[in-house]
Amino acid sequence: MLFQDNRETILIIDFGSQVTKLIARRIRDLGVYSEIITPRHVKTIKNYERIKGIILSGGPSTVTKEKFQSIPKQIFEKKIPILGICYGLQLIAKLFGGKIKSSFKRREFGREIVFKRKESLLTKKFFNPNQVVWMSHEDAVVKLPKGFQIIAYTKNSKLTIIENLKKNIYGVQFHPEVTHTINGSQIFKNFLFLICKIKKKWNIASQKNRLIQDIKNKVQNDKVICALSGGVDSSVVALLINKAIKKNLICIMVDTGLMRKNEFKYTYKIFKKKYKLNVILIDASNMFLSRLKNVFNPEKKRKIIGNLFVRIFEKESKKFKKIKYLAQGTLYPDVIESRSYTGSKTSKIKSHHNVGGLPKKMNLKLIEPLREFFKDEVRVLGNALNLSKSICYRHPFPGPGLGIRIIGNITKEKVKILQEADYIFINELNKNNLYDKIWQAYAALLPMKTVGVMGDTRTYEYTCLLRAVVSEDGMTADYYYFSKEFQDKISNKIINNVKGINRVVYDISSKPPSTIELE
Ligand code: XMP
Repeated sequence: MLFQDNRETILIIDFGSQVTKLIARRIRDLGVYSEIITPRHVKTIKNYERIKGIILSGGPSTVTKEKFQSIPKQIFEKKIPILGICYGLQLIAKLFGGKIKSSFKRREFGREIVFKRKESLLTKKFFNPNQVVWMSHEDAVVKLPKGFQIIAYTKNSKLTIIENLKKNIYGVQFHPEVTHTINGSQIFKNFLFLICKIKKKWNIASQKNRLIQDIKNKVQNDKVICALSGGVDSSVVALLINKAIKKNLICIMVDTGLMRKNEFKYTYKIFKKKYKLNVILIDASNMFLSRLKNVFNPEKKRKIIGNLFVRIFEKESKKFKKIKYLAQGTLYPDVIESRSYTGSKTSKIKSHHNVGGLPKKMNLKLIEPLREFFKDEVRVLGNALNLSKSICYRHPFPGPGLGIRIIGNITKEKVKILQEADYIFINELNKNNLYDKIWQAYAALLPMKTVGVMGDTRTYEYTCLLRAVVSEDGMTADYYYFSKEFQDKISNKIINNVKGINRVVYDISSKPPSTIELE
């Protein structure tokens, strides 16, 4: 379903590609609002006026089978420019009478060079002499549908970019949304501004007042409760709602004991003293630790932490009378990913517990002011709300906290050891001006002890794993390359200062195939 308003938008129809979100990101980065829906929601669109362009994403389906994911053909009659990407291009070709074959010979995965055959508005200023694009397909269009022309090709495939000028329909076999495609955003720029002729109107900071007004209108004199973690999302939610309804917002901070060193008290102080929020701090650390005793399975840990959090939050909130709303920091990627909303086929790798859990059990209405924003858009909002830089630009931190960074059984002693190691690591990143270059960094504690020697004494202690990744949105990531000097410094500092660790290792895996967190 589309958000109900009259904003001009580029509509993205998601056929289940892992990178569809990046299309929306690219478009919003260009100052244009975009929304994603699934094919089954196309029939619910009421107002086509506001849709200035449509993009059909990639996806795992194949038009070579009898049954494939599709959309009503009438959408092509609306005189709205359309761009198909990968599967989107194949679907266009199929619906207009072209021929698509699944072919081992024609398949292309990874980098390819694309060659220009003809000028097109879509490819203006796009081509470089060695134009690298990123491919991920086995099916290929082998016969061009009537009315279409070839704009570009690769050595494996004759039909890499196609267009139908009369119908204003375009297709690219590669993925311009991923950074491996050089100059990929030029394709979007051309589609948006030369073909769809949409104006740059999307400015996040200017949304602040609208969001505050929307909250005021919705909540009026009722009370809102909010779980504040100190992460950027819940902080921005709390500040926005506070601006709208002041003391009628009650923020609850549940200390799971699984946060980083000093983090909880620091955040509590900031919100209480600097922003004058109505914050209640609940220390539940012993309860979490005792429930997690001898739990080794990562998914079980996540479930225990998530469920206990909900229970405690629920119990505390019942102490307040007449609460009508529950505020959540749900972001646009959460909205896209929660299957009940989109029905998309992208698979879930780990159970992220911050979406959906709370409201089901509680009889409260939801208020989610960040539903339409990506993470870095939330940061821009945070800035506009004067949120402390240390919170606004803090690396992402998972809901289950250190619980999924202490591999295997969690004990109080291990939490303390890890907090110290992590504190040193993050401090050193800051001191060496590395923190902002890295998307996410943390220390983890491995479940094994190894032998070491300190002075003349044999030690038998834990191994600390350091992880630092660069990423755009956490969906894919590369490990950060530290200098030898920094590696020496950090390993030394941790081993010398943290009792309980005698070995430091650095994780050099990327995502995929690994994930960012270890559990
Ligand atoms: P993975 O490990 O799946 O992590 O590559 C991708 C990003 O998600 C964060 N993460 C979580 N965030 N609740 C959260 O709010 C969770 O349960 C959770 N698990 C992972 C992770 O830190 C990384 O930024």
